Amino acid sequence: MRRSSVVAGIGGCTPDRVVTNAELARHFDTTDAWIVSRTGISARRRVEPGQSTSDLAVVAGRLALESAGSTDVDMVILATATPDRPCPATAPVVAARLGLGTVPAFDISAVCSGFVYALSVADGMIAAGTAGRVLLIGADAFSTILDPDDRATAAVFGDGAGAMVLRAGEPGEPGELLGFDLGADGTQEDLITVPAGGSRRPRRDGVDEDDRWFVMRGQAVYRHAVRRMTATAQSVLALADWRSGEVDHLIAHQANARILATVGAELGIAPERVYSNIADVGNTVAASVPLALADAAAAGVLSRGDRVLLTAFGGGTTWGAAALTWPELVVAARTEAAARTEGERVL
Ligand code: UT7
Repeated sequence: MRRSSVVAGIGGCTPDRVVTNAELARHFDTTDAWIVSRTGISARRRVEPGQSTSDLAVVAGRLALESAGSTDVDMVILATATPDRPCPATAPVVAARLGLGTVPAFDISAVCSGFVYALSVADGMIAAGTAGRVLLIGADAFSTILDPDDRATAAVFGDGAGAMVLRAGEPGEPGELLGFDLGADGTQEDLITVPAGGSRRPRRDGVDEDDRWFVMRGQAVYRHAVRRMTATAQSVLALADWRSGEVDHLIAHQANARILATVGAELGIAPERVYSNIADVGNTVAASVPLALADAAAAGVLSRGDRVLLTAFGGGTTWGAAALTWPELVVAARTEAAARTEGERVL
């Protein structure tokens, strides 16, 4: 029989530096009213110079291990679009900093869908018997690639990390992952992109400095996000044999409050069942789904046996959804990570 995967722990982390709409309005031609009405975001968190994705991932990972009551994991998967370095992957250094020895560790790059992709990969590793307990983390320091002159992306994106421990379990256990739907459409790669700095346009080729920054075609992304997040969630509902009225919580990628409301309405899920922490953290890319899960769990929103539907859309373009039930868990409130002091050792 196929081994089931069960959620065993969860944790979240954001940098301690809060960037309010009022602060953005001091740098850009924007207002709190514009940002709140178009995105639902009031504040986002940002790393300080020198603070990186792995710094956030390690804190969230530690909280998830504490929540699971054990540091016993045999694999680390990190979903991120802002690795500490272009090469190598960031997961190995996260595993090392968490004291997890020489367990296999690798990154997944699917931007805002990255955590749902990672969840599916971890589930497959457990089902195949390759791993028994997996630490998976979604983390991004997206502010490090934002165009300093772009008021639209400045308003939307924030930094953070969310982590989960997944273990082999029994079918029917609370916390079981019940199914996935994943997809990608590379014909839309230009919707969400950093144009230069990869092998297609190496930095050494004298590329325009501006092309090293993140670019998003906001309106088109908005439309694709609504369509794909709704459709992939519908596929998973069919797979899990759930009616939309039976979903206790829709935890969607926190792209934009209006997108969340529209996806919830199109799925027929009541607004009070559509969880959101976007007002406080913004769109945290790969961290968005696990951070929302961690915040909802810490706030007591998620109870044992609740039916949880995840859905996400991101660059690539990529999308994915998952159905799971919620386990009994001890979950601490999200930790705020302070920047490292100069000279402090990383490992
Ligand atoms: O995480 C991956 C998925 N990402 C998303 O799902 C994001 C999806 N897109 C969005 O959330 C929205 O498109 C944005 C919030 C990024 C932009 O909102 P919008 O309502 O789509 O605005 P727009 O791009 O159509 O721009 C309308 C106007 C423009 O001015 P003009 O050209 O009409 O004069 C923009 O320059 O709003 C302007 N604008 C702003 N004005 C004040 C853009 N950003 C701002 C701003 N403050 N921060």
